[in-house]
Amino acid sequence: MGKKNSLVVGNWKMNGLMASLVEVGAIVKGAAGVTAELAICPPATLAGMVRGALEGSAVCLGGQDCHSEPSGAFTGDVSAEMWADLGARYVIVGHSERRQGHGESDATVAAKAAGVLRAGLIPIICVGESLAEREAGCTLTVIAAQLAGSLPGERAGVTRAVIAYEPVWAIGTGRTPTIEQVAEVHQAIGLALEKRFGEAGGQIRLLYGGSVKPDNAAEILAISGVDGALVGGASLRASDFLMIAKAAG
Ligand code: PGA
Repeated sequence: MGKKNSLVVGNWKMNGLMASLVEVGAIVKGAAGVTAELAICPPATLAGMVRGALEGSAVCLGGQDCHSEPSGAFTGDVSAEMWADLGARYVIVGHSERRQGHGESDATVAAKAAGVLRAGLIPIICVGESLAEREAGCTLTVIAAQLAGSLPGERAGVTRAVIAYEPVWAIGTGRTPTIEQVAEVHQAIGLALEKRFGEAGGQIRLLYGGSVKPDNAAEILAISGVDGALVGGASLRASDFLMIAKAAG
């Protein structure tokens, strides 16, 4: 099986004002020398302008979340169809900040991922254990359960999805798992996907996320089974994001 095309995704979370668009311009410029696929997930308020700034570049637009329904009376929500209409390629679903802060269950995440696939886009489905779960030695069980519950079925086209392993305790903390810990979880996810979806499952790209920075990116991205990174804080500055992107290829 050939090496999968690396993907580095910047998740701006609830950060970024109009002035931040200069960072997008700098990313577009710097991306010329990068072979990995890049995507930026800005807040919805900036998405239209980010899309304009990405015009003609290989850097993709992504959404940070979406509603599972295509349209309707859901005040404040954005649908996957709306992201598609804007020219997005990816939508993150099931981020731990959505699971914890907004009470999203695995079933909610699966419905959102199915919505993303219905709209013709690629869901980046996040899974990851809490510190208590890691310390209790149940990381792999927790991840297996999240995968089983958060992925829509094969008929929804789930083998087009991307999975992001993001240990909750590594997000925004500056702490990262050891190389062995990342490799162990990525291997377990890869095996679970192959078991459930056969060869196509083995082709699903697996990103690592949680405190990826310019100074640890090369080491993390070199781990077997890591096909790219989901980057939060370090994606807000073009120079940092580009250093990570270059480490991916
Ligand atoms: P971080 O966030 O890089 O700031 O740790 C990663 C994420 O939440 O996707």
